[in-house]
Amino acid sequence: MKNKLRILSKDFSSILKNISRLSDSAGIRVYLVGGVVRDLILGKNIVDLDIVVEGDAILFAQAFAHTHKKQFKKHHSFGTATVYYDQYQIDFATARQETYAHAGALPSVEPAELSRDLARRDFTINAMAISLNRDDYGTLIDLHNGLIDLKRGLIRVLHENSFLDDPTRILRAIKFEQRFSFTIEKKTRCLLQTALRRGALRWVNPHRLRDELIPILKEPQPCRYIKRINSLGAFSFIDKKLRLTKQDMLLLQRIEQAIIFYLKRCHTHRKLEEWLLYLCAITCKLSSGSINHFVERFGLHKGDKIRVLSAHTNRSRIQRLRTGLVPHEIYQFLNPFSFECILFFYAYYPDKRIRKHIALFFSKLVQVRLRLKGADLKRLGFKPCTIYGTILEKLLYMKLDKGFSTFRQELNAAQGLAVRLFGTHGTLELKVNH
Ligand code: CTP
Repeated sequence: MKNKLRILSKDFSSILKNISRLSDSAGIRVYLVGGVVRDLILGKNIVDLDIVVEGDAILFAQAFAHTHKKQFKKHHSFGTATVYYDQYQIDFATARQETYAHAGALPSVEPAELSRDLARRDFTINAMAISLNRDDYGTLIDLHNGLIDLKRGLIRVLHENSFLDDPTRILRAIKFEQRFSFTIEKKTRCLLQTALRRGALRWVNPHRLRDELIPILKEPQPCRYIKRINSLGAFSFIDKKLRLTKQDMLLLQRIEQAIIFYLKRCHTHRKLEEWLLYLCAITCKLSSGSINHFVERFGLHKGDKIRVLSAHTNRSRIQRLRTGLVPHEIYQFLNPFSFECILFFYAYYPDKRIRKHIALFFSKLVQVRLRLKGADLKRLGFKPCTIYGTILEKLLYMKLDKGFSTFRQELNAAQGLAVRLFGTHGTLELKVNH
């Protein structure tokens, strides 16, 4: 296992050595723990570090940040803090044990030794630690045979009540199963299905389910994950009756293709929230009432909520794109929507004309900008404010349709527009040096 720590990047190795030095001088036992150990053994890329301290993690993290002049943040949740070490995030937590008052409740927590901390975790593959103290630096602590399960590719819970205590683990089991192409071990699968049958996902605070669902939708190729959740009937946490059909799965595939199309064709480099497109597809057949209820219960961020609802309510309006439209009409029609909504429409309607119009919007129209600015209109002698907006908007539409390529063409058009709209073409002749 010592070799595994050696495969860490130089940066991470030196961070761990620094943590190790501090733990020895403070006389505290400190461990690397959870998913990072799993990923290290699997040879995956490590992004952040999770550290468990047998003692006060907040004081330890504070001392560590202070010694290395790094930023430190204490959290509200029990005994946890983060140190921002250059581009890396290091989370420190006090080793703890958890007891659940009732299924799905938030656990009550108290400090404990490492073995208890490992025993409260979700799956054997996530319940391993690596010691960081000098006397056994790099030693793997594997009390639940996580290494064997990792080698066999098995997702296994640590105890019978795991899914009932924390039903979000149902989604986590599916996430790890699909991400690593592992198998959910037979008994664990039975426990998972029993928890689902008992409606465990409905006991949990929906925000916790959201915090598991969104990362799943952000995994590469999330369709596999969605299909698996659906086959287990586990989308009931979104809506009691929600079951995706073959048609819905085809829509999800078209979402995947729409994203590829966007990445190839659209060069504005506007970042796409791809996961939102999948969420729109999963929820699109709900009634307006159910979808409103869902976005509220899940506490989606305002912008995300608006995009999900907008995709849902504006679907039928998009039929207008089936008719013949000139470029500025396509732009005028699509521009008010988010890119995520437009791509959802693209996937939703595999209609040649709609797609042609959306393709034109992304590959060309959305990138068209006027060379002429408000300041140029001012220099032409137009009084600022309202008329600027009107002239510039009409000018942009003309440019979309006629494809002006020079500043002079825009200027002439602006003057023509001004005459038509306001009976004046400005008072000054602008020197054209663009
Ligand atoms: N954990 C748990 N039960 C949960 C969530 C987390 O036992 N419901 C434990 C697991 O040991 C897990 C660790 O907390 O490994 C950290 O959880 P998380 O931050 O979700 O990270 P990862 O397991 O690393 O998952 P991912 O790779 O998707 O980030």
